[in-house]
Amino acid sequence: MSKLLAPANVGGLSLKNRVVMSPMCTYEVIRENGIATPFHFAHYGARAISGVGLIITESTAVDPRGRISNNDLGLWNDEQVSEFSRLVDSLHYLGSKVGVQLNHAGRKAADEDVPVAPSAIAFSDDSNKLVELSKEDIANIVAEFGQAAKRASDAGVDMIEIHGAHGYLLNQFLSAVSNKRDDEYGGSLENRFRIVSEVIDAVKANFAGPIWIRLSLTDYDESGLQNTMGDWEQIGKWLEEAGIKLIDVSTGGLLPKGPNFPVHDGYQTPFATELKNAVNIDVSTVGLLDNPGLAEYILQNDQADLIMEGRALLRNTNWLADAAKELHDHDFKVFDASYERGQK
Ligand SMILES: Cc1cc2nc3c(=O)[nH]c(=O)nc-3n(C[C@H](O)[C@H](O)[C@H](O)COP(=O)(O)O)c2cc1C
Repeated sequence: MSKLLAPANVGGLSLKNRVVMSPMCTYEVIRENGIATPFHFAHYGARAISGVGLIITESTAVDPRGRISNNDLGLWNDEQVSEFSRLVDSLHYLGSKVGVQLNHAGRKAADEDVPVAPSAIAFSDDSNKLVELSKEDIANIVAEFGQAAKRASDAGVDMIEIHGAHGYLLNQFLSAVSNKRDDEYGGSLENRFRIVSEVIDAVKANFAGPIWIRLSLTDYDESGLQNTMGDWEQIGKWLEEAGIKLIDVSTGGLLPKGPNFPVHDGYQTPFATELKNAVNIDVSTVGLLDNPGLAEYILQNDQADLIMEGRALLRNTNWLADAAKELHDHDFKVFDASYERGQK
């Protein structure tokens, strides 16, 4: 059996395989109330039926002012719990473990008239005016992460991922490129990490399951201000001490620019491997891992512990069955036996 499709204990979860559906916004909450619609059931349900070990649902707002768009899912109020709980139940029924990615978009809340941020530095020239968060505002947002975690727990999720990547609020605090504060939330690495540590404590107080975090290990910034790999290794150790079970390694999103090197299959995996070698917790990799042979190679060579698939699963709900064929893995089972006839 391939390592990709064999059961494994990773990131505090017992999974039927090492394929995770990477969190991806769908912008399908038409009524702007943060509540899941039939689209979410069909969209995630199809990926569960296809055999994905863990589905991490899209960026889900802990505060309406922290939405990437007004069409995001949310867990900022109790009315959002029952439909989300039904979604989690349905995905469990179809055989996947389910997690949620909790997020506050900060300065990247695109539909917000006056978004909030650690410092009043806009994402890009055409961004809206910003408000710098007071210490009281920060305490409120930390509490909101805790309350959203409680709602996710009530809905029955298996894990929670804190979104610390792609230039959203926690990433804005972590990077000296976007954080110019002179209080205890800015300046030193320890200070820039403070809100992350408080968010982890708030989530931990309300959720007994494994907590993961997604990080962007480079801002593609050339000013000399971005965190170094040494800084990320220090952050990795603090996350380990805080009880984080897996670091989901991504890159970019803080600035309106892409990689400053040629993008190729698995281009983000070296960042994951470097961090993995510095910590004693699991690390996942994401980014152009559509080729199952490459995914298997990464796992076999301990470059990462888990593979996240994004766009490949948007294009092809049959990705896992195709991967099983390509890897000559005859043990892979689809959810519904009648589908096997389609694999012959
Ligand atoms: C439509 C779309 C929406 C996305 N939304 C999110 C999101 O909500 N949270 C997140 O952490 N990453 C998000 N991403 C990034 C993906 O999770 C993934 O990291 C990225 O697409 C690279 O992986 P891939 O090459 O397998 O697609 C999104 C990507 C796409 C294509």
